[in-house]
Amino acid sequence: MLFNHSDKIVLASNNRGKIKEIQHILSGHTIITQQSLNITEIEETGSTFVENAILKAKNAALQSNLPAIADDSGLVIDALQGAPGIISARYAGEKATDIDNLNLVLKNMASIPDAKRSARFICVIVLMRHANDPFPFIAQASWEGKILTAPQGSNGFGYDPIFWLDKENCSSAELSPAKKNQLSHRANALQLLEQQLLSHNL
Ligand code: IMP
Repeated sequence: MLFNHSDKIVLASNNRGKIKEIQHILSGHTIITQQSLNITEIEETGSTFVENAILKAKNAALQSNLPAIADDSGLVIDALQGAPGIISARYAGEKATDIDNLNLVLKNMASIPDAKRSARFICVIVLMRHANDPFPFIAQASWEGKILTAPQGSNGFGYDPIFWLDKENCSSAELSPAKKNQLSHRANALQLLEQQLLSHNL
């Protein structure tokens, strides 16, 4: 368990889909959003998920004086040489919506045959006890799937409607929120984080 139950942790994200999932998965903790503390967002200038997660956690810890947790995540598609990757949230442009981004993936994948549509969601979680924490907790996980040719399902957020899961025989937007929160890249990264904290008696 992270610190004490009563200890507040700032969640360095303004993404409603992520916030909902992280609050659900970490329901034993007091998670407050950076928006509720009027924390200004930092530009994601890193070239890796982990760098961007550290930038976000550090920024939230600095502005709040509280421990901060950040999630940097995205979709990595083999046939697109890893795109949209770290720019998943803004693949179709700075002001792009989830639908714009998803449609651009579908367009760029239009000529790719079924056997070459492999992809994975990546999630890196960083927890910094304070802004100058020299030893942040870092946990990362991935979730394998395939890119559909058209959206399916309305749960989740982002690219969920086009992410097919062979084992579940549905898209991740067709999973119940509870099931997604058991299986996802985010769920697994958060579980790994908890294990690290437990092993440090935190
Ligand atoms: P970030 O806020 O820079 O980490 O951007 C993450 C982006 O990756 C989101 O805006 C989504 O487009 C995508 N993404 C990450 N996790 C998921 C997920 O669980 N489902 C669908 N899309 C996701």
